Amino acid sequence: MLQDFSSATLQEARPSVVATERLTLRRPTLADVRTISRLANDRRIAENTRRLPHPYSQDDAVAFVRATAEFGSDSVFLIEHDTTPVGMVGIDCSTPDAELGFWLGVEHWGRGFATEAARGAIDFFFEEFDGDHLHAGARVTNPASRNVLEKCGFQWSGVKLHRFLALGSSTPVDCFRLSRGVWSSLKSWSSARRMR
Ligand SMILES: CC(C)(COP(=O)(O)OP(=O)(O)OC[C@H]1O[C@@H](n2cnc3c(N)ncnc32)[C@H](O)[C@@H]1OP(=O)(O)O)[C@@H](O)C(=O)NCCC(=O)NCCS
Repeated sequence: MLQDFSSATLQEARPSVVATERLTLRRPTLADVRTISRLANDRRIAENTRRLPHPYSQDDAVAFVRATAEFGSDSVFLIEHDTTPVGMVGIDCSTPDAELGFWLGVEHWGRGFATEAARGAIDFFFEEFDGDHLHAGARVTNPASRNVLEKCGFQWSGVKLHRFLALGSSTPVDCFRLSRGVWSSLKSWSSARRMR
């Protein structure tokens, strides 16, 4: 079962920053709204993410940052590389099926950042929450996202229709699932490899 987000003590106890080899994942603030709206305002991003509007304005970014603060979404992170924001990664824990989502500004695609950020967020989820599964989806026309999910250990679980705000319609989505057991085996395997 997921932990109760209304518990201030638990939220304060969770780390607010996740560091990976090249990236820092941190909570977005109102100081980031210009950058978030500039990065997110691209149809290639909106058409592959379920809830991003297009065009994406600074007001959309303000509403997003306020909502993450208000609802205690301590699993939503701005991704930074060398202190430059490059995108967002987050886990929506508002339903029993916790779901991973991510996007990067187009100029930052193709450098492995999404995989690295997704791994950081996944570790955070399994280390800080007691959920047993993490879900994710990629449009069937989105091989980059599917690759990221598979590299993180997600397993395909079927195809569903999901509504995409920017499309104004529903479209087929490959659904994926990562269990705590698979995550934990992959972690042990990669730390054993590092020690060799
Ligand atoms: C999906 C997205 C986050 C990928 O970002 P990224 O930093 O380029 O991803 P990575 O570099 O970590 O990994 C992408 C992988 O897909 C591969 N890939 C990229 N485009 C591809 C394509 N058209 N066909 C096949 N594979 C492709 C890359 O080669 C890479 O695999 P590799 O490491 O084995 O070479 C980025 O394209 C994006 O923001 N897209 C729009 C939003 C989105 O789709 N979000 C995910 C849905 S929630």
